[in-house]
Amino acid sequence: MQQQPIGIFDSGVGGTSIWKEITRLLPQEDTIYLADSKYAPYGKRSKTEILELSIKNTEKLLEFGCKIIVVACNTATTNAIKELRATYQVPFIGIEPAIKPAAIRTKTKKVGVLATKGTLSSELFAKTSDQYTRNIEVLEVIGTGLVELIEDGKIDSPEMYALLNSYIDPMIKKNIDYLVLGCSHYPYLIPVLQKMLSDQVMIIDSGQAVAKQTKTILETLNLLNPKSQKGTHSLYTNSNIGPLEEILKSTDVDYTLGKLDF
Ligand code: DGL
Repeated sequence: MQQQPIGIFDSGVGGTSIWKEITRLLPQEDTIYLADSKYAPYGKRSKTEILELSIKNTEKLLEFGCKIIVVACNTATTNAIKELRATYQVPFIGIEPAIKPAAIRTKTKKVGVLATKGTLSSELFAKTSDQYTRNIEVLEVIGTGLVELIEDGKIDSPEMYALLNSYIDPMIKKNIDYLVLGCSHYPYLIPVLQKMLSDQVMIIDSGQAVAKQTKTILETLNLLNPKSQKGTHSLYTNSNIGPLEEILKSTDVDYTLGKLDF
């Protein structure tokens, strides 16, 4: 089992931000990544639909013999991970908006959270938020349209600047000092966001924490790959391969890309 790959899925190309952290922290592990771009965005879908899509992706990763599954999507985690854990024996790692570190560190007592509708309206998010944000103001903003633009390869486009600005401006006016990126697509917006935000606003995402948690669980279950050579990486999309190719341009990890029906 130790030799089996880590399975990772997201609604599209965004979860590669998590995949990158995992390959950095666990270079000897093999990975299989599924970009479910055909059904993106998940953020507008019902909980039932998100669960059905998450089951479909999980079963595909299990066909590859994955030893652990990383749900590299906040929307799928907050809507489906409980049910996935109850259904399958394989361990699951999820991703949630990093509300806790922002709530602990904020000085202005105002924190912005940018995420999908599916994440912000989920029970899991409400529970986490209630637990850590009693004494602070949380400005929750739904990033409508951002995932679509990223999936279309329009990160550095005028449309992106205008849309993102409309979401960020009210947060700046409210004097936030932490911005939590609650969607695994959004780390790709950090260069754009940095142009809009002053140095006083820290941007937090959960990528490194997810990679660390994956390592911890693999260690605990004695599932770390003992080989000393670098891992192999296969990334698949069920839609156009272009956006995945584009988003992986900057990585120095070797990988293969393919189109797959799932
Ligand atoms: N990457 C997903 C997330 O973290 C995107 C959601 C979507 O497809 O709307 O929430």
